[in-house]
Amino acid sequence: TDIPALRDAFPEHVRVGGAVERPETVGVHAELLERHYDSVTAGNAMKWDATEPTEGQFTWDEADHIVEYARENGLGVRGHTLVWHNQTPAWVFRDADGAEMTPTPENKALLLARLEAHIRAVAGRYADDVYAWDVVNEVIDESQPDGMRRSKWYEITGLDYIRTAFRVAREVAPDAKLYINDYNTEIPAKRAFLHDLVAQLKAEGVPVDGVGHQMHINIAWPAVGEIERTITDFVDLDVEQQITEFDMSVYDNPTDSYDPVPAELLVEQGYRYRDVFAALRRQADHLTGITFWGLGDDRTWLTQFPIARIDLPLPFDQRLQAKPAYWGIVDPTRLP
Ligand code: G3I
Repeated sequence: TDIPALRDAFPEHVRVGGAVERPETVGVHAELLERHYDSVTAGNAMKWDATEPTEGQFTWDEADHIVEYARENGLGVRGHTLVWHNQTPAWVFRDADGAEMTPTPENKALLLARLEAHIRAVAGRYADDVYAWDVVNEVIDESQPDGMRRSKWYEITGLDYIRTAFRVAREVAPDAKLYINDYNTEIPAKRAFLHDLVAQLKAEGVPVDGVGHQMHINIAWPAVGEIERTITDFVDLDVEQQITEFDMSVYDNPTDSYDPVPAELLVEQGYRYRDVFAALRRQADHLTGITFWGLGDDRTWLTQFPIARIDLPLPFDQRLQAKPAYWGIVDPTRLP
């Protein structure tokens, strides 16, 4: 239709992206994508369980499809993600005898060798296509004294999995910006740990180029000022920053559930989108991209998480029409 393109609501240097699966690459979803966005992120197709379900046996169909689609349509690709504690096959953490790995020097060497082989294959394959990689995802846990998530990666290798991941990614994908990506960076204690980790890695010469803020927020949390500080707190590190998985749940409570979601709430969401995106635009000099975790409300992970319920977190509605959230970004004078 003739509504303004979402990407035109941001300065040129800020790529506007959407997370996609195969269904978003055809039909009305693809039309929307090609009209409004600059970039795609694979919602699942590049994760370890999708690309290397069995050791050394790579399955590229889904990821290749998205990359080829993006190439044909002039869209950039954000790679997501090389190392995570979720959606990683169990074999990765089994020792030479097939038992669950415990922290030993042999297991550490084996795990880092698997990590290296995986990144060589995946990041190497897409080196000409992916402009930014989430090299490691969700490594911070602010409830730990040192702020590091107690994943198998951390238990077995300490920080070495992060160091290895970035160094190998740089070697095989030298043109990609390499990101550390996390959620809830709006929480001051969490982002302080992330900030200090990035500072340490950079001081060691680990090639970290960017910090990704997932920014899964909701209708009431966090305050807009906290969102701005989320960006400004990293400026001293001299890294790129992107919003990598934006959405805004209509719920501020894990157990509420509306059916249907009241129209007034969607208008309220539109005003909050206005305020949040005004803040992100004020910080646009520090941002190189804003990616939404999905295109329309017809397909959003939040209908499964934290409970099954209708949620409408994105700029386009379940029929891919512009909703108040869209107008909050693009032209708040058109909000009801
Ligand atoms: O692949 C199986 C399929 O074989 C099976 O038939 C189907 C039945 O439910 O499940 C499929 O797996 C699902 C997978 O998505 C692929 O569709 C999983 O159950 C489901 O849990 C998984 O959810 C994904 C989630 O990450 C899991 O960690 C979401 O789609 C994806 O949007 C979400 O993305 C994460 C980011 O990677 C990191 N940040 C948070 C974000 C939202 O949770």
